[in-house]
Amino acid sequence: MSILVTGGAGFIGSNFILDWLGQSAEPVINLDALTYAGNLENLARLEGDPRHRFVRGDIGDADLLARLLREHRPRAILHFAAESHVDRSIHGPEAFIQTNCVGAFRLLQAALAYWEGLAGAERAAFRFLHVSTDEVYGSLAPDAPPFREGDRYAPNSPYSASKAASDHLVRAYHHTYGLPTLTTNCSNNYGPFQFPEKLIPLVLHNALSGLPLPIYGDGLQVRDWLYVADHCTALRRVLEAGRTGEVYNIGGGHEMANLDLVHALCEVLDARRPRADGRSYREQIAFVADRPGHDRRYAIDAARIRQELGWRPAESFRSGLEKTVAWYLAHADWSAHVTSGAYRAWVGLHYGEAA
Ligand code: NAD
Ligand code: TYD
Repeated sequence: MSILVTGGAGFIGSNFILDWLGQSAEPVINLDALTYAGNLENLARLEGDPRHRFVRGDIGDADLLARLLREHRPRAILHFAAESHVDRSIHGPEAFIQTNCVGAFRLLQAALAYWEGLAGAERAAFRFLHVSTDEVYGSLAPDAPPFREGDRYAPNSPYSASKAASDHLVRAYHHTYGLPTLTTNCSNNYGPFQFPEKLIPLVLHNALSGLPLPIYGDGLQVRDWLYVADHCTALRRVLEAGRTGEVYNIGGGHEMANLDLVHALCEVLDARRPRADGRSYREQIAFVADRPGHDRRYAIDAARIRQELGWRPAESFRSGLEKTVAWYLAHADWSAHVTSGAYRAWVGLHYGEAA
């Protein structure tokens, strides 16, 4: 038996594969195009491990997908591959449509053809797990209850719209063709191997480099943070025991305004790696122009996955943050590698002089 993971060289995908192979003998076929966000260094620990088979390729490549499925006969597909950064989707939405919509469609087509060719126990056991985001639900008012499965979709960015499209396709492939799908909508993740275009690793990188810590608008936008290892545990549970055709919201239950989050990060850094001049990293905070269409608040109601599947996050926000800072401090080489070249071009394009 094996599983096929797409996007396994990215942030969450690589954490998932490391976690999976840390507790299972079952091999992983990892299909990843290695875009700017994919990095095989994340999986260096698995070098020479026959349970990890890396294939560089695009989820939009129908022939490659058919061949991989035929050769490896996985019992499940876990679909992580995506363009994942809202700001990039504002500057260049096309790649998001290509990978998140067209790519997801090709993968579903290939999965369907493969599944239809299975028989008996193999067919009954097969699962297609689609990893999605809470951003498909849009923006919450300050006093509105957190997102529940079944809430109206109201995506506001090209990123969330492209993910919403893929969620709808997954739903349709279950409803129309019976493909045994599972969909998860998760809140903001943080932890090791997150590319420093996202808020937490960007702030850590800039703080340590003596650069401004850019806060969009008033910094009072709220996100619900989940430590990445807890997302991985949730995905394992959904794969194991989720009801096919169902959607599971996953979240840490920890809402926080961006400004408070950055203050908390500065506090941890001040304690662990004090600035040479003895002042706080908070002094580097710089308010910059807001993101167009910026969603004000996301929050997840995780009652379904908690009650049906018994999942709960193991980390508190604070313990997850301490682990994350410790990891970035201990892996300065990883950050240095991923912030060369293309990264600097992105920072120049998006932040101009600000960062
Ligand atoms: P990421 O950007 O770090 O990684 C994406 C990976 O997909 C990269 O390795 C990249 O090379 C690969 N990829 C991109 N286009 C591809 C293509 N056409 N074919 C094959 N591989 C391709 O993203 P992430 O943060 O790890 O997110 C993984 C998934 O989880 C995404 O689907 C995202 O929408 C979802 N998600 C992310 C978060 C979060 O906070 N990061 C929260 C909820 C859901
Ligand atoms: P991000 O990590 O890009 O995740 P998402 O947009 O998917 O929630 O951003 C998290 C929050 O932080 C979001 O409200 C935008 C904000 N933000 C900043 O204020 N400054 C920054 O430089 C970045 C990258 C994000």
